[in-house]
Amino acid sequence: MDEKHKQRVRERYQRALQHGEKFWPDSIYKDVLVSFALFLLLVGLATFVGVKPEPKVNPNDTTYLPRPEWYFLFMFEFLKFIPGSIEWVGAILIPTIGIVVLLVLPFIDRNPYRHYSKRVLALSVMGLIVLDIVLLTVMALVPAPTPEQVFFKNLQRLAGLTIPGLTLVVLFVLARVVREPASQRKAMLVVTGLAALGMIGASLATVFPLAASAPPKEEEQIFASVSEQIAAGQDLYSTYCAECHGPEGRVTEIQGVEGLDGRIVTAINSNDVMYTFTDETLRNIIRDGWPESGMPPFGMELSPNEIDALVAFMRYTWDDRIEAPAEAQAGGIPALAEGEVPSYDVHIEPIVKRYCLSCHRPGKENNNYLMTSYEEILTTGDNAPNLVAGDMDSILLQVIQGHEVEGKTGTINVMPPNGKLIKDEYVQMFIRWVEAGMPQTADDAAAAAP
Ligand code: HEC
Ligand code: HEC
Repeated sequence: MDEKHKQRVRERYQRALQHGEKFWPDSIYKDVLVSFALFLLLVGLATFVGVKPEPKVNPNDTTYLPRPEWYFLFMFEFLKFIPGSIEWVGAILIPTIGIVVLLVLPFIDRNPYRHYSKRVLALSVMGLIVLDIVLLTVMALVPAPTPEQVFFKNLQRLAGLTIPGLTLVVLFVLARVVREPASQRKAMLVVTGLAALGMIGASLATVFPLAASAPPKEEEQIFASVSEQIAAGQDLYSTYCAECHGPEGRVTEIQGVEGLDGRIVTAINSNDVMYTFTDETLRNIIRDGWPESGMPPFGMELSPNEIDALVAFMRYTWDDRIEAPAEAQAGGIPALAEGEVPSYDVHIEPIVKRYCLSCHRPGKENNNYLMTSYEEILTTGDNAPNLVAGDMDSILLQVIQGHEVEGKTGTINVMPPNGKLIKDEYVQMFIRWVEAGMPQTADDAAAAAP
């Protein structure tokens, strides 16, 4: 610093002192006012807005993935670049160095100038760090690359760790080696600019493909009326609960469920259960499971709305103190009118949903016989076709009438396998449906009627 410059600074300082204000009490007073206003704002926010409560912790839930708040996501992402064995380097050493450097910055950075053109090194370093923080946060927001996506993983490490790290080293070397201010500035700007472009390019090249590969978020279902809720609850019950509790929630012997085979489950449709458990308790049992009894938690698979629908279904169907709304009572399976030909859409699908789908859907043991759609029912299965138009010996018709069938894969049990055949009324619907050529829609069925 030359004498002239020192002189100028001193003069400016004196001028400020002349018409300036005192630190105590003037500045302090202002600070107190502002802090108090902020304090009131916080109290107001906490009182009137609050924080959206998250679901209660579920100690049974082993799939929970803890994630930091957004402002720590960059650290979270940064840690992924560091091998687990030296995690402490990323988790403790580097952040500590960063904090210490910030604290002692006024003592190491003795550059007297404030104009940005004279502070290229400091601004470049800080700029790169801020850019890295932003990019790391963005990368943490999209799904992490899977272990097979080695290329994306390396690209992310390049953008978040390698380029910024090397650039910092190069900048400090330039500051030592290139002495001439103009060329030093130019060199630093070029290096920083190239590094920034490289970081942005590399991270965006991973962010877009990874974001696109994220599974679409399922839309949350909202039920408009109680009967809609009950109908949805019925479907959910058949899909998720019937394999252990049977289609009607009676005493059941579990069959074909790993680890619980042969287990007798007490009824859940009894007054005992309905009178002693409140809706709240039922919701909790479904969400969190029943530790040790074998009742699994469904909090991950089912949304709170779906659990509400299940509880509504159970309550309106099994609790004799409560009347279900008239339009919900039929239970979704319409009776057949005189001479009416059943169709898949109106009659068969609801029966399948209630009595078969809990096992005949993907991921269950079922001889690969899926029943989630019209086409699947006609074509899938190890012993396909299980249904042949007009053939009264079709495998499906036999097993639902209580006859075992010798198939290519061995004996096919009576269906449903857990003890009780479906109502004769429903068996007759299946038979008449096959007789009529298995019409899909109500119109097809009307056309097939004699
Ligand atoms: C993997 C088998 C299985 C599935 C699937 C299952 N449960 Fe359970 N559930 C059980 C077992 C086992 C018990 C313990 C019953 C007992 O002790 O007799 C139980 C208990 C319950 C109870 C408490 C009954 C009582 O008397 O304490 C309720 C309510 C219940 N289940 C509802 C459901 C609902 C609703 C679903 C569907 C979302 C479901 N369960 C799915 C196996 C299952
Ligand atoms: C509790 C689970 C469960 C339920 C409920 C169930 N099934 Fe099955 N189903 C199976 C299993 C397991 C098989 C494999 C064969 C066996 O073990 O008997 C099977 C096989 C079949 C097959 C033979 C498929 C093939 O190609 O080999 C037909 C047909 C069938 N089921 C029809 C039905 C119908 C219709 C219903 C509803 C009324 C039903 N099932 C309900 C578990 C179930």
